Amino acid sequence: MTKGFPAKTIGILSAGGDCPGLNAAIKALCSTASLKNNMKIIGINDGYRGLIEGRTREITHDDYKDIMNQGGTILGSSRIKPYKTEEDSESKEQDKVSLIKENYHKLGLDCLIVLGGNGTHSTANRLSGEGLNIIGLPKTIDNDIVGTDFSFGFDTAVMVATESIDRHHSTAKSHGRVMVIELMGHKVGWLALYSGIAGSADIILIPEIPYNIKNIGNHIKENAGKGKNYSIVVVAEGAISVEEEQMNRKDRKKFRTETMYSSIAGRIAHEIEMETMLEARTTVLGYAQRGGTPSAADRILAASFGYAAAEHAAKGEYGIMMALNGSKICSVPLDVPAGKIKTVPLDHHLLSTAKALGISLGDLISG
Ligand code: F6P
Repeated sequence: MTKGFPAKTIGILSAGGDCPGLNAAIKALCSTASLKNNMKIIGINDGYRGLIEGRTREITHDDYKDIMNQGGTILGSSRIKPYKTEEDSESKEQDKVSLIKENYHKLGLDCLIVLGGNGTHSTANRLSGEGLNIIGLPKTIDNDIVGTDFSFGFDTAVMVATESIDRHHSTAKSHGRVMVIELMGHKVGWLALYSGIAGSADIILIPEIPYNIKNIGNHIKENAGKGKNYSIVVVAEGAISVEEEQMNRKDRKKFRTETMYSSIAGRIAHEIEMETMLEARTTVLGYAQRGGTPSAADRILAASFGYAAAEHAAKGEYGIMMALNGSKICSVPLDVPAGKIKTVPLDHHLLSTAKALGISLGDLISG
């Protein structure tokens, strides 16, 4: 944490993929900043892009008074990475960062509050290192931010995904089919693991545990042998096979493009049909997991982070991300989440719980 002057003017932006709870966080942040601490609030449109391009507006009570239960973000978002090397030259990238710094000072900001995930906090950490006062709020449906037990957005996504899985049981049973349901999660399987257990899946496949298709086929056939005529497979979009795990990054990318059908769910459904001779169908749940009304738990977590962030700004405490530790709201230095991803640890209790429930994780151990 760095200590500076109490903030009188703050800038706020939301960056990365949106998620439920962003507006609840914005409402609590703005109420605490403006009504309690008398700060001026500058809303920055579309994440870091808006700060680079100078697209901002002053936020007033009318902007945030009715948004607690609204999905999305009133600020807009973008996935621009100011430090990322693209085809443009080093100097152009530097331009983006220089523009951010220039506009931060031009706007008279004492502090920039960013609502985002891993990428957003990596950028925030670097900008903090360059002298800007920054506070971060962790949001993402993936729950993969290091330093906090949970990020807001995750609870709603689990709820939506679980309800969707629930709805697949009756149709799968009616037709005696295997249903492969793909959930978000490129690099981590938190969402698939939570909603797969809650939704009584037979098989859960997550990126952290490479799957063996023979084990999946055997598990489904065993279920059928015990009189269960259908199976539910929940797969995170980043799930990989044991064969893919052996490949280098380039070969894996090529292999995935060639074998993906329309999605990882499509590929796994095809592989299951080959293994079991049973009929398989797919659902790719997609952006329904990210859109719409936040759950009560996400509103509460987001609002708690928003409140705490504004209070830190009022005390001149910067270079931190708000975090949940057990049931306590606290802060961690920005370099804690920066450049890292919180994967599911292989000794996590939910993996053992899944196995005890008879759920296969597609690996050798759980069948
Ligand atoms: O917000 C995280 C996430 O939902 C990932 O799980 C997913 O892979 C990604 O965003 C996709 O989002 P977009 O299409 O907006 O890049």
